[in-house]
Amino acid sequence: MAAQGPSSPLLTPYKMGKFNLSHRVVLAPLTRQRSYGNVPQPHAILYYSQRTSNGGLLIAEATGVSDTAQGYPDTPGIWTKEQVEAWKPIVDAVHAKGGVFFCQIWHVGRVSNSGYQPNGQAPISSSDKPLTPQLRSNGIDVAEFTPPRRLRTDEIPQIVNDFRLAARNAIEAGFDGVEIHGAHGYLLDQFMKDQVNDRTDEYGGSLENRCRFALEVVEAVANEIGADKVGIRLSPFANYMESGDSDPKALGLYMANSLNKYGILYCHMVEPRMRTVGEKCACPHSLVPMRKAFNGTFIAAGGFDREDGNNAVAEGRADLIAFGRWFLANPDLPKRFELNAPLNKYNRETFYVSDPVIGYTDYPFLETTA
Ligand SMILES: Cc1cc2nc3c(=O)[nH]c(=O)nc-3n(C[C@H](O)[C@H](O)[C@H](O)COP(=O)(O)O)c2cc1C
Repeated sequence: MAAQGPSSPLLTPYKMGKFNLSHRVVLAPLTRQRSYGNVPQPHAILYYSQRTSNGGLLIAEATGVSDTAQGYPDTPGIWTKEQVEAWKPIVDAVHAKGGVFFCQIWHVGRVSNSGYQPNGQAPISSSDKPLTPQLRSNGIDVAEFTPPRRLRTDEIPQIVNDFRLAARNAIEAGFDGVEIHGAHGYLLDQFMKDQVNDRTDEYGGSLENRCRFALEVVEAVANEIGADKVGIRLSPFANYMESGDSDPKALGLYMANSLNKYGILYCHMVEPRMRTVGEKCACPHSLVPMRKAFNGTFIAAGGFDREDGNNAVAEGRADLIAFGRWFLANPDLPKRFELNAPLNKYNRETFYVSDPVIGYTDYPFLETTA
């Protein structure tokens, strides 16, 4: 066994609310598009349990809150009884290995097309501004979006309620808590960001108004399941899916301060260097002001490796670090970080294929003799 100690801050324990985490290497939420018909599948039992360590925190892939929440093939949901039942053995497997498991609850808003919507209706958003077609991650296919329908003011409470019910269902399925997906240009972000939100009601205009919807979701979910089981993911600096903001720092700070009122467990922020989901860029901004403003656990994500993660924890820039692509390709990532072992490379081409094994559960573990 390699001796490790203070040189690996990522491998030190951390108490997140009532959860005693044995290290700070978090599985980032990763959409894998292998939940056929929006129902989590038995192959996810192996996938998540491979990535579980005793006392490790895992965040499940983005999971739809309702039948209008989808915009990609085969992403899981948590609004039907069948979906809740299908999550149970997956959650049980993570718990059996001592993991702490949060469900990321999600509504894509306008990042959809009528083919994913009930009765072929238009997707919903803060606005009726259409999204221009986007190149898919394979660099070949193009995703087409149907122009969205702007939600009426009186419809917003129904969507808030969908998040509340999804959170209740997540607890019913056995999850330890939920992460509200407020990042990456999806529905909540479509309200927060001034590049998208052009409303004139109390959900548009000022920063306070644009953040109202996300904060109503936070409040409803916290009231339903307890603030000690609620996290939120935000990406104020990202412009993914044409969701940029003219003053991302003010937005991030406003949210960090406002979240304190609800006493939620954690705030998970995406690094400013991640303007899109998978690519780093040079960037002068930092999350430190938001980290300082937020009273709960602060998780940072986006472009971290072992060294950068260790430095961020050592310097107090974050309590926990979420790893996406490295964890996808290295099921035993905490162990590899502990040993400073080499990492498997990730293969982008199999991120989103529907195969239940390839690029999913076939990444090798470290061969150890111990
Ligand atoms: C295959 C893939 C799927 C992703 N799915 C989600 C998702 O469901 N929810 C989310 O908030 N972010 C998602 N992301 C973003 C990751 O959680 C993470 O923030 C991003 O990969 C940057 O971190 P990394 O440099 O450690 O990979 C995804 C990224 C990848 C590569």
